[in-house]
Amino acid sequence: MPSSNPRARHFPPPMSSTSLSPEGEEVAEEEQVVTPWEVSAKQGGKIDYGKLIDQFGCQRLDQSLIDRVQRLTNRHPHVFLRRGVFFAHRDFTDILDAYERGDKFYLYTGRGPSSEALHLGHLVPFMFTKYLQDAFKVPLVIQLTDDEKCMWKNLSVEESQRLARENAKDLIACGFDISRTFIFCDFDYVGGAFYKNMVRVAKCVTYNKVVGIFGFTGEDHIGKVSFPPVQAVPSFPSSFPHLFSGRENLRCLIPCAIDQDPYFRMTRDVAPRIGYSKPSLIESTFFPALQGETGKMSASDPNSAIYVTDTAKDIKNKINKYAFSGGQDTTEKQRKFGANLEVDIPIKYLEFFLDDDAELEQIRREYGAGHLLTGEVKRRVIEVLTELVERHRRARAAVTDEMVDAFMAVRPLPNMFS
Ligand code: TRP
Repeated sequence: MPSSNPRARHFPPPMSSTSLSPEGEEVAEEEQVVTPWEVSAKQGGKIDYGKLIDQFGCQRLDQSLIDRVQRLTNRHPHVFLRRGVFFAHRDFTDILDAYERGDKFYLYTGRGPSSEALHLGHLVPFMFTKYLQDAFKVPLVIQLTDDEKCMWKNLSVEESQRLARENAKDLIACGFDISRTFIFCDFDYVGGAFYKNMVRVAKCVTYNKVVGIFGFTGEDHIGKVSFPPVQAVPSFPSSFPHLFSGRENLRCLIPCAIDQDPYFRMTRDVAPRIGYSKPSLIESTFFPALQGETGKMSASDPNSAIYVTDTAKDIKNKINKYAFSGGQDTTEKQRKFGANLEVDIPIKYLEFFLDDDAELEQIRREYGAGHLLTGEVKRRVIEVLTELVERHRRARAAVTDEMVDAFMAVRPLPNMFS
């Protein structure tokens, strides 16, 4: 996403690194940038997720944790866990320890409603959150930050609110359980206990601190500077008295893409100072653009992504025309040398959405060895994505305005843990 803020390019501060130009001069290399507003890999490369873990100071989600989730939930781990899509965490073990002792938790995630149509990358955290909700049988709050997008995308208040409601339908279409799910828009819900927590947080964060975390400059309007507490406080159960009154010690787990980490670094820093527990996080990689794995998809380039509103024909055209292939450029060479799976987008997309481990392994093996051609792998991706998008379209068409109102009603959820 292009940043309106040139200084944001330097937050988090670039790790210094130089190389020699062809003329033998030392030149600074463009480092990868991951902030809530911009994701870009080092020139010509892929996002280095291992480095991000070190830079942000989160923990790697390893196989022993995945095995533990399987044991505790008695379910086959979600494809996004098995394939390393959710790859990092902060204190996820605390959530599992507590759960093992019989203490429940709640889930918090969100979306900034900046566009009408969601692309597949937008669905990733919600598909995963739905799995967590079903597997652990816990409540979920979903924040629609209409205020955030109004301020960052220069949308009117009314347009942001309209988009939030439209997006709510896409989220409901992911299958969340209404007896455990509360969806809210900031413009409607902020106030009361939620606002009190915002002020408690805001008092603990200096201007210098947000500049350090988010890279705001003197030219940014004060709306941006004051927004982070809004995204922080759904991490605290006392922000939802209609849900969690009397359960102020309930732990919070936030599934999100790793670009949201700065908000929650700030939140975790402040929490103990205002007497609250730090939220835990489980964080994903980005769903790559059709053109290759150098950042997350750009909402402004329709040919960089598959949208949930794309027709079967659009999907076929986009994959065939734009999906970056690691295959060789002639059949003869492909048969001889095989494909480079590391950079191949059809394979990457299958890793996200083809649930069958054995089939994926077979495709990887045969494509890598040159027995399969790019066109054949693309045909399979087209099938898988078309089915996914069709299923979403049908589910979304069934979501009525009354259902949106029901999910967004400020109400207790008496059966949220059963
Ligand atoms: N800022 C996020 C976005 O632009 C929306 C969001 C709000 C969110 N709260 C969240 C995302 C919690 C993940 C988890 O999409």
